[in-house]
Amino acid sequence: MSKTALVTGASRGIGLETTRRFILNHDDITTVVMFARDSEDFDTNVAELEKELPIGRKLVPYKVDVGDRATLKKAVKRAYDEVGNIDILVNNAGYTNPVPLQQVKMADFEKTMEVNVYAPFTIIKALLNRGNTFDLIVNIASTAGINGRSGWLTYSASKAAVINMSQVMREELSIYGTRVVCLSPGRTATALRKTLAPDEDPTTIMQPEHVAQVISTLSSSVGKFIDSENIVVRQ
Ligand SMILES: NC(=O)c1ccc[n+]([C@@H]2O[C@H](COP(=O)([O-])OP(=O)(O)OC[C@H]3O[C@@H](n4cnc5c(N)ncnc54)[C@H](OP(=O)(O)O)[C@@H]3O)[C@@H](O)[C@H]2O)c1
Repeated sequence: MSKTALVTGASRGIGLETTRRFILNHDDITTVVMFARDSEDFDTNVAELEKELPIGRKLVPYKVDVGDRATLKKAVKRAYDEVGNIDILVNNAGYTNPVPLQQVKMADFEKTMEVNVYAPFTIIKALLNRGNTFDLIVNIASTAGINGRSGWLTYSASKAAVINMSQVMREELSIYGTRVVCLSPGRTATALRKTLAPDEDPTTIMQPEHVAQVISTLSSSVGKFIDSENIVVRQ
């Protein structure tokens, strides 16, 4: 089997580790399309991964801001034209700017929704409308979407929306043989977590490769036996 995956937020953290697992340790995935914004981190991490690539495996990096809907639609179209059907989609890119609710700026709330909710929806809709058939869609939410957290209003609200949106997608897309899984990590040692909990020691919490391992299992031949609407991954 030769499958193609698309991972958003693939420049670092959970998205980078998922890409690494997919391209180096997965039996079926031979191509991974990586979406992230232009950054030194992205260039460096792609170059590092390229050095380890087994023969016959391919990375296709795209520099795209998923929060810019028009650009995102164009990137999805280009990616589909370049690699063909996306079998596995991991909607992982995430944004947060935690502040007390009196200080929430509407523009920032809108940006949070654009990156965390509208971008996954836009990618899925754009691909479906081009005739793409997914085997698996993994939408990354958060435990903060199950229970709202003080100071995290915009982030918690966006992740609650991801959980609910995934339930609808799961029902609507099952007739095409598509599995839709929402995965909600708890605290994981990444840059985003540092923004949410600046004083925490990252060595004491879950690492991004742990979450990536769960995503990889979901995408493997045994993944179809994991039947849950919202999988919580936490320490
Ligand atoms: N870490 C945790 O404790 C935790 C817990 C629950 C859920 N999550 C979720 O896990 C997912 C991955 O986050 P992470 O923890 O791995 O954080 P991270 O290391 O900070 O990675 C976030 C990723 O999202 C990308 N991203 C952010 N805004 C983007 C935009 N506008 N366009 C394109 N890419 C964008 C970043 O890429 P660039 O900035 O390079 O473009 C980066 O690759 C997020 O959805 C997050 O909400 C994390």
